[in-house]
Amino acid sequence: MSLLEVQSVSKAFGGIQALSGCSIAVEQGMITGLIGPNGSGKTTLFNVITGYERIDTGEIRFNGRAITGEKPDKIFGLGIGRTFQLTRVFSRLTVLENMHVALQRNVRGLLKHWGPSQEQRQALDLLDFVGLTRLKDAPAGNLSYGQKKLLEFALVLVAQPQVILLDEPAGGVNPTMVNELAGHIRTLNKQGVTFLVVEHNMEFVMGLCDTVNVMHRGTKIAEGPPTMVRNNPGVLEAYLGV
Ligand SMILES: Nc1ncnc2c1ncn2[C@@H]1O[C@H](COP(=O)(O)OP(=O)(O)O)[C@@H](O)[C@H]1O
Ligand SMILES: [Mg+2]
Repeated sequence: MSLLEVQSVSKAFGGIQALSGCSIAVEQGMITGLIGPNGSGKTTLFNVITGYERIDTGEIRFNGRAITGEKPDKIFGLGIGRTFQLTRVFSRLTVLENMHVALQRNVRGLLKHWGPSQEQRQALDLLDFVGLTRLKDAPAGNLSYGQKKLLEFALVLVAQPQVILLDEPAGGVNPTMVNELAGHIRTLNKQGVTFLVVEHNMEFVMGLCDTVNVMHRGTKIAEGPPTMVRNNPGVLEAYLGV
């Protein structure tokens, strides 16, 4: 049994078939890549897994249990965390305040047994992990794009998800910070966190992922180790249209 299973999922927006009989499995403990041309359905796949969009047909299972049609909060609570292609941090709150909002929202159960000092420690530990400690009192709106992405990553970690879905984490981020992010992903993965990562930066995907899925026109057209996928004629065709 795979940790996360997307089975024959279809989703249309009016006349646009964003997902078309798409099946993808994410194995426990692995870093799985998800690549494909713009408009191939990657973000829609994340949206249906995390409950932000309803599917037309198919099934989604997490830990063997159907989660199809559940609400985003419920799915997050079950242990599926995600980031968004465009960051969603509160600009006027400080970095630390953003962490507290996320803690209040997402770990209500835990917080019942926590005092304010434990909450504060957790928030500071996570900011330390992503290297944002020195910016903790700055308004989040003042952060660079890459720093916002690191903050959003820390915000997801407050709920200690079992699997994290990252939508273009390296997009628009400078190379130094891309390397930092890759390091954080590896560290968490060694601690047992599973990842599904959408990314156009091929160096990042090839260097990080254990296996890569390729999407084209709403469905998976190839799957395998990074080197195999890179040399797959069907994949080259999907990208280059040859
Ligand atoms: N909310 C929506 N309403 C209408 N069309 C959408 C919506 N979300 C995605 N689409 C369409 O679905 C297709 C897949 O989009 P998307 O999942 O964002 O692809 P990707 O992330 O691979 O670039 C595109 O044609 C896109 O325009
Ligand atoms: Mg997308």
